[in-house]
Amino acid sequence: MTKNIKLYVEKDYDALSKRAALIFAKQVNAAPLAAFGFATGGTPVGMYEELKKMRARNEIYLDQITAFNLDEYYPIENTNTQSYAYFMAENLFDEVNLPKEKRNIPNGDSSNPTAECVAYDEKINRCGGIEMQILGLGTNGHIGFNEPAEFFSGATVHVELAESTIQSNARFFDDEKDVPRHAITMGIRTILMAKRILLLVSGEAKADILRDALIGPITPNVPASALQLHRDVIVIADEAAAKHL
Ligand code: PGA
Repeated sequence: MTKNIKLYVEKDYDALSKRAALIFAKQVNAAPLAAFGFATGGTPVGMYEELKKMRARNEIYLDQITAFNLDEYYPIENTNTQSYAYFMAENLFDEVNLPKEKRNIPNGDSSNPTAECVAYDEKINRCGGIEMQILGLGTNGHIGFNEPAEFFSGATVHVELAESTIQSNARFFDDEKDVPRHAITMGIRTILMAKRILLLVSGEAKADILRDALIGPITPNVPASALQLHRDVIVIADEAAAKHL
């Protein structure tokens, strides 16, 4: 593995979540007014639980950061309980008192998604860029909703979801037919512009793709392999996910 990637292998999901929260808290406490990038999905939920406990113990202050989420379904209203706006409010933001005006999530209800993408990147830039971006890893190698493709994406972009992502995310919906078919996601270039990246990966089902992402060829067929080009990546995996590393 290249030197720009620092790997922590933790015993299980619980240990992974605690480690991730500690690393993230240290970064926030060092730059409490900066912008930070958040992710949804099952993987970061344990880390968010830890951050809420740390906030209750006054070990971290998230009140003054600016948050930027990686992605949002399209089309979706932010009051929809399946939206990532709702997910973040429920799983972290409400409980750590992050003011609503500091929560940036692509607007899945925009009538002009292209303009929404441009405005999103501009806002990240105006805030001085992202200090640390949290990422999960899709079983197909996606980061954000950057699905395997012929080319790496650049800026924030309106995309069509891969069939494998729709199937994987169907577990959060009553019916697979209800999963939105599109999304707005930070592009690969937007993600790589974050100063530090914190990638969380749990479970044996991700072991093959984690190996491909970190030590396989850099290819848009495995979007996460672009992380090999970033100069400061921290990967926290549990033993099951790290078994091929
Ligand atoms: P998961 O999703 O954390 O629910 O496994 C990760 C992702 O798709 O990015």
